[in-house]
Amino acid sequence: MNSDKTGMHGVWASRWTFVLAATGSAVGLGNIWKFPYITGENGGGAFVLVYLACILCAGIPVMMAEVMLGRKGRMSPINTMRNITQSENAPVFFRSIGWMGALAGFFILSFYSVIAGWTLSYIVKMATGVFDGANADVAGEQFGGLLGDPVQLTVLHTIFTVLVGVVLVRGVHKGLENSLRMLMPLLFIMLVLLLGYALTTPGFGEALSFLFSVDFSKLSGESVVVALGHSFFTLSLGMGAIMAYGSYMPKQASLGKTVLTVGILDTLVALVAGIVIFSVVFSNGLEPGAGPGLMFQTLPIAFAGLPLGDLIGTVFFVLVAIAAWSSAISIAEPAIAWAVEKGHSRLVATTAVCGFSWLLGLGTVVSFNVASDFTLFGKTFFDSLDFLTSNIMLPLGGILIAVFVGWFVRKETIAHEARVQSPVLFNLWIFMLKFVSPLAVGYIFIKGLGIF
Ligand code: PHE
Repeated sequence: MNSDKTGMHGVWASRWTFVLAATGSAVGLGNIWKFPYITGENGGGAFVLVYLACILCAGIPVMMAEVMLGRKGRMSPINTMRNITQSENAPVFFRSIGWMGALAGFFILSFYSVIAGWTLSYIVKMATGVFDGANADVAGEQFGGLLGDPVQLTVLHTIFTVLVGVVLVRGVHKGLENSLRMLMPLLFIMLVLLLGYALTTPGFGEALSFLFSVDFSKLSGESVVVALGHSFFTLSLGMGAIMAYGSYMPKQASLGKTVLTVGILDTLVALVAGIVIFSVVFSNGLEPGAGPGLMFQTLPIAFAGLPLGDLIGTVFFVLVAIAAWSSAISIAEPAIAWAVEKGHSRLVATTAVCGFSWLLGLGTVVSFNVASDFTLFGKTFFDSLDFLTSNIMLPLGGILIAVFVGWFVRKETIAHEARVQSPVLFNLWIFMLKFVSPLAVGYIFIKGLGIF
């Protein structure tokens, strides 16, 4: 793979470290919780197709661009963008990529840790046998009970935020990598196991046809924007998370293969989670468009139908919580890295970022219960924040990154940093960044949001 004399082992180990860290960031609630529920809300197959097209046309090229910028800048996204706009003589305007990203991260973390708190509650519920022999009614009641209790949600949100803060204070280092090295593969194994179970359920065929038979009449303009936004959210793009992790990348490693590996793993996890969840939905006559509770109202039924279901369910929710935890760390890292470069200690930086996002998270907590009637543009507080970040801020960040690298960074700089071996693939990548990604994202934005 690499004839570099500096040692194949070292290069391999580091390349995989990056794959691990980036996969840890990418694979999270977005794949297991969000993808199935938004697919259910947006009609299935056609939505999935647009989502996959967005991953290919915008996600992968933008991810390569972010890693490239991170590897070149070796600082927080805000300072990386400042330095590279300077060294490339690019318009100062592009520095906004770093700022907007840090802000988006702060917003995302606020609701992400509320949802991650739900998984903590489900670990306890599974372990204590609450779902023994559970059917759809029990699953629905349990979820409704959790959502209706703002105090419990706040406690869980607090616990999760603290768990994220503890790692961030110490720095994203070996401890996290070592645990991910074992736990990520375990999560994949669990999903494959659940896929095996799904295969035996009567709803399996219907799940496949829901996810993969395409009917464009079910697709609204907003659905297309949601699919686009999710392709950025799920790959952790458009806000600097992957840029910050780009500095894990050894100089020699080829960008294309590495990024493609992360993209494929992330997509596979989402699709398998979708197949499992919709098999349960259709086997039990549930509603595919049930919203954010979908995963929590379906998987306990699956576990109830499995031998050793309580144990498997407990381990599963532990793994989902860990996947959420490794993603949340990367969501906060751009803002914290910047504060540290400004001269603050990691403790102060982490306390500030996590503290403010915790406070904002209380808005999400009450949007599921006492303040569920409070809406902005017809959306609850949680839905508005999710829409603003995933569907506006991240694609906007992505478009700016594509335009910046495609049009304003010199080709020699890119070639030197990216080390894409094949000239054909290199030129294809630049072509995507220059034309395809910005036009596709821009078109979907304008059409879907009805801007003109
Ligand atoms: N990609 C993560 C997920 O799918 C969420 C995330 C978004 C992480 C943005 C980092 C940045 O759960």
